[in-house]
Amino acid sequence: MIRSFFLLSSASLLLTIGVLRAQAPAAPANIPYADARSILDVLRSDLLPPELRAATPVERQAIWPDWVARRDGDIRARLARADEDSLLNLLLLGTTFTRHPRVTDLAAVRTREAALERLAGRLDDLADALTSPRDERLRFARDVILGRGIDATSAQGKLQIREYLLGILERVAGETEGFARTAAAMSQLDDPVARLALSATNYRDRGLSSDTSLVPNFAVDRALDDLHAAGRLRPRSIRRVALIGPGLDVIDRRDGYDFYPVQTIQPFALVDSLVRLGLAVPDGLQIATFDVSARVNGHLEAARERARSGRGYLVHVALGGRERWSTELTAYWARVGMRVGDAAAAAPPAGSGVRVRAIQVRPAVVLSVVPQDLNIVLQRLDPLAPAERFDLVVATNVFIYYDVFEQSLALANVARMLRPGGLLLSNTLLTELPGLPMARVAHTDVVYTDTAVGDRVMAYERTGSW
Ligand SMILES: C[S@@+](CC[C@H](N)C(=O)[O-])C[C@H]1O[C@@H](n2cnc3c(N)ncnc32)[C@H](O)[C@@H]1O
Repeated sequence: MIRSFFLLSSASLLLTIGVLRAQAPAAPANIPYADARSILDVLRSDLLPPELRAATPVERQAIWPDWVARRDGDIRARLARADEDSLLNLLLLGTTFTRHPRVTDLAAVRTREAALERLAGRLDDLADALTSPRDERLRFARDVILGRGIDATSAQGKLQIREYLLGILERVAGETEGFARTAAAMSQLDDPVARLALSATNYRDRGLSSDTSLVPNFAVDRALDDLHAAGRLRPRSIRRVALIGPGLDVIDRRDGYDFYPVQTIQPFALVDSLVRLGLAVPDGLQIATFDVSARVNGHLEAARERARSGRGYLVHVALGGRERWSTELTAYWARVGMRVGDAAAAAPPAGSGVRVRAIQVRPAVVLSVVPQDLNIVLQRLDPLAPAERFDLVVATNVFIYYDVFEQSLALANVARMLRPGGLLLSNTLLTELPGLPMARVAHTDVVYTDTAVGDRVMAYERTGSW
């Protein structure tokens, strides 16, 4: 059904002729026109970028390298907007730099007057904390401010910080309202395929957030378990894994904890699941992470550097006090990390209702995670020898930031890196195109809260030769 919604009615597919490549170490390479063509030829024209839609096939081929380069710049520019969103979350929700109460309701600070009244103390405290930032989170905030040419140490700078943050607040509040309107309109759509399609690209105009939390890892854990039980994943068969967009919990949109250091969770939670489920043995597992965010990649590089001198990586897993979490998620929370590290001390803020565990991940596990800058929409590792291809690719809360055309390019890039029979797990419903050797073979539904908030993880298999 999804297919017919997006395809040209009389699509003619061209065979892509494989080009022999000399073997060299795999490095990020832009998606060639030949691969893009298998998408351009079959996707409905209104889903194509205007400049490609209007062009003839010959013109498309000529402009393709420039289009890719420009699009890569556009995508990376979206990171700055998300940094501002994280800075705002820190202002509203952080507890370590201020004693003023958290503001969890954006609508309550929608007007400038309300914002100044509710946030004046927090704004002052944050501006003060930025004069000599004492941790990675505050250094991140200072860097965002510096990037706008604001000197946090001057009196003038403090006023500028206030105005800058109020401006971000206004933008985010407007976007959130628009987002709620779109969601409401979407729920009214009669056509379930159109509804699914729209929700799969929900964040296509948003900043590229690095937000991450525990819950998608529970969803992936359950999906892996199902695939194992169904015989689609054999014991000890996973050796090479690609994790697209591991994310960085600078300050999470949902609950906004800042009582633990900035962290990434997914690489370690994924190793934990694979080992616990018997799908991988720890010594033989390699996790390549691909991300466009220098902050995410740099954070993982720094963790590797510390691991080289024998230091582990501290991960906190938290369940907020505002939700009633499902029994299954709570059970996952209680066990996650035990296969990759040892329990460490953790203390949530008194009275917050947050449940938290900390795990000191072993240096060897940290060193099995290798970060790389790669834009999955436009790039893949190339050339990749058959033995270097991935058994499994995981991407949660990444593709939703892109439109259908970009998602299809990403799917082509994933297909080029997976071994035949290898699987992609994603919680975004992707369009299956006849020109791409990726087929949806399974899905797993999970429930996070007792109000049935949950997720669906789809498994796409790399089929045939391409
Ligand atoms: C919202 S976070 C999700 C983090 C984690 N996967 C999760 O589900 O909690 C999105 C992550 O994907 C990365 N990302 C977004 N677009 C990307 C792209 N085109 N290529 C690679 N990484 C991308 C972001 O930088 C960020 O790390």
